[in-house]
Amino acid sequence: MFYSNLKPFPENFLWGASTSAYQAEGASTMDGKGLSVQDLHHPVAIADFSVASDHYHRFREDVELMKRMGLKAYRFSISWSRVFPQGKGEMNPLGLAFYDELIDALTEGGITPVVTLYHFDLPLVLHEKGGWSNPETIDAFAAYARAMFERYGDRVKYWLTINEQNVMINHPNAMYPGQVPSQKELYQQNHNMFLASALAINLCHELVEGGKIGPAPNIICVYPKTCAPADVIASDNWEAIRCWLYLDMAVYGRYNATAWAYLEEKGLAPTIGKHDMELLADAKPDFLGMNYYASATVSAAKNDGHDRQPRNGDQQTMVGEEGVFRSEENDMLETTDFGWKIDSIGLRTTLRRVYDRYHLPILITENGLGSVDTLDEDGHVHDNARIEYLERHFHQARLAINDGVDLIGYCPWSFIDLVSTHQGYGKRYGFVYVNREEKDLKDLARIPKDSYYWYQQLIAENGMNI
Ligand code: BG6
Repeated sequence: MFYSNLKPFPENFLWGASTSAYQAEGASTMDGKGLSVQDLHHPVAIADFSVASDHYHRFREDVELMKRMGLKAYRFSISWSRVFPQGKGEMNPLGLAFYDELIDALTEGGITPVVTLYHFDLPLVLHEKGGWSNPETIDAFAAYARAMFERYGDRVKYWLTINEQNVMINHPNAMYPGQVPSQKELYQQNHNMFLASALAINLCHELVEGGKIGPAPNIICVYPKTCAPADVIASDNWEAIRCWLYLDMAVYGRYNATAWAYLEEKGLAPTIGKHDMELLADAKPDFLGMNYYASATVSAAKNDGHDRQPRNGDQQTMVGEEGVFRSEENDMLETTDFGWKIDSIGLRTTLRRVYDRYHLPILITENGLGSVDTLDEDGHVHDNARIEYLERHFHQARLAINDGVDLIGYCPWSFIDLVSTHQGYGKRYGFVYVNREEKDLKDLARIPKDSYYWYQQLIAENGMNI
């Protein structure tokens, strides 16, 4: 649909930016922090998480940069093992104090904190006891969530439960050191994470006055390669298994029918406890967080032995699965230097589909361009490709608002450069350059990139020229 006049972005739109604890903070064993699974499994050739972007020590400088940029919201995650070094039980006062200071600095600066409880970094102790396969982890998560709501709920009103649960299930190498579990076990873990999220949602409503909470899956739109009906069914299959499985459960508390049929057919259906479905139906999110980077294109599975479920590798790369779908190239789209499809119109399509299905406010919790950014001789980082990427995506978000989508904010990934999940500092996303290389820490200086000034201007205009 074309519009002759575009509505503006809403007043109080949450122009934000995102990071996660383990990718930005560093200080991974400092001040009483326990290890998380992330501290163990990173490829040796790239930066580890011991220093990362040193946000733990430089958060005040970082918040100053956010203020200068005019940021309205900052989405970050709490490191579970920093506040509960053993995953449960005794809390770490220094870890708690860190988040107190960060939250105070943000709120005093007029920046709305948006807090993710769990972003890929399960405490190692819990992992060693079976991780999400062990129902005790559900209780540990609920106890952790309760403690966070009690401690920070006076100042933090926007909460996210679990970051990209669907990525952790479809690409389990994002969370696992060593061998990944069987698919059957992964879907049991998935069910357990649903239960943990439901408990957290209910606790937030009980403990945080005016608190709002939602999930933060990685959502895409899936295109059929052709208009052949079998390709359309295949794209429905993958969209259901990859996306609706997670959002249907979060919003309606039920398994998506197509996804459930798939789980049964493949022998992957989880065991469901007697009262599980009641709890899942009872917990209602207030909004939906959504990470969006790329779309996907698929055709009907050929069942010739070449389609297989991707259980490792990059989170936007799929292969296919026998009887379900086969991944296809989309020649209509450009590709980033790291092989991800650039599809800004796909963002509009995804927002429309999600809003049509769930009718809940949506917060874009991640979106951005990973690229090889370099500090020029003139002392600046000219990241024009990122500006162009975001310009196109923001424009499509505005069109989605005109389509009727209740979009409440947009938090690009990432505020500062940080350690990419598997490509270190060779793949940067930040508005602010962090002066370090994979192994050479240099001075970790913060240098606003060209995109920082571009976003500053856009926020000041409330996006009216986009
Ligand atoms: C999302 C994650 O999958 O994408 C982030 O929530 C991640 O943690 C981001 O960093 C970009 O992915 P990558 O692999 O390029 O770092």
